Amino acid sequence: MQIVFIGPPGAGKGTQSVRLAEYLGVPHLSTGEMLRGACRQKSEIGIKATEAMESGQLVSDDLVEEIVFSRLEKPDCESGCILDGFPRTVPQAEALDHWLAKRGQLLSGALELRVSKELLVERLSSRGREDDDQGTVLERLRQYDKLTHPLLDYYGNRQVLQVIEGSGTQDEVFSRVQGVVAEMNSSSSEQAEK
Ligand code: AP5
Ligand code: MG
Repeated sequence: MQIVFIGPPGAGKGTQSVRLAEYLGVPHLSTGEMLRGACRQKSEIGIKATEAMESGQLVSDDLVEEIVFSRLEKPDCESGCILDGFPRTVPQAEALDHWLAKRGQLLSGALELRVSKELLVERLSSRGREDDDQGTVLERLRQYDKLTHPLLDYYGNRQVLQVIEGSGTQDEVFSRVQGVVAEMNSSSSEQAEK
């Protein structure tokens, strides 16, 4: 089962995708965490990614794809994984579809966490990650609107998009996530029986 989480900064992708991965017993892959790790280690990818991340811009598709696909090749991802923050552009989504198709797999679902801008800003201002200062958050939101928002149509057209209301407590949001995943599972087993 391959599931991707889509949502603006602060929507709760990390919070909910970690819980879902644990619940389903599959790995959680966050490109933000992988890239922050690469920056700390000052690896070649990290050095190239640092400037974009510090300014709230997206890292280039080729660097992110390199880091994600080499992780997806690992045996623990064979039965699926939860992707948090990838894909984030239409070319990344196409690359993921291509990668899955080569292995005879399909994306199980794209879960959009929908949260108002006011709530996003409130959540991030109380967290304090390095890229959570006001100017960088606004740039991350702009990048989301410009480059990631088109993915909603991309996945909507492929009928794999599920919209989840992201306000409320973490437990309330997780119950919605579980409900959507249960429906996805039952409709995919109905398809298999046909
Ligand atoms: P990334 O690390 O993915 O950051 P982001 O998308 O900006 O999102 P956040 O991690 O800030 O928010 P989240 O949705 O995970 O919410 P969270 O659960 O933490 O990416 C960072 C950077 O890496 C990008 O800017 C880019 O440069 C680069 N990058 C990453 N992937 C890339 C890609 N594919 N292509 C190119 N570049 C890429 O929650 C936020 C806060 O709210 C937390 O404090 C949490 O505790 C709290 N919270 C969560 N849910 C609730 C709730 N229900 N109620 C109250 N508080 C809550
Ligand atoms: Mg996150």
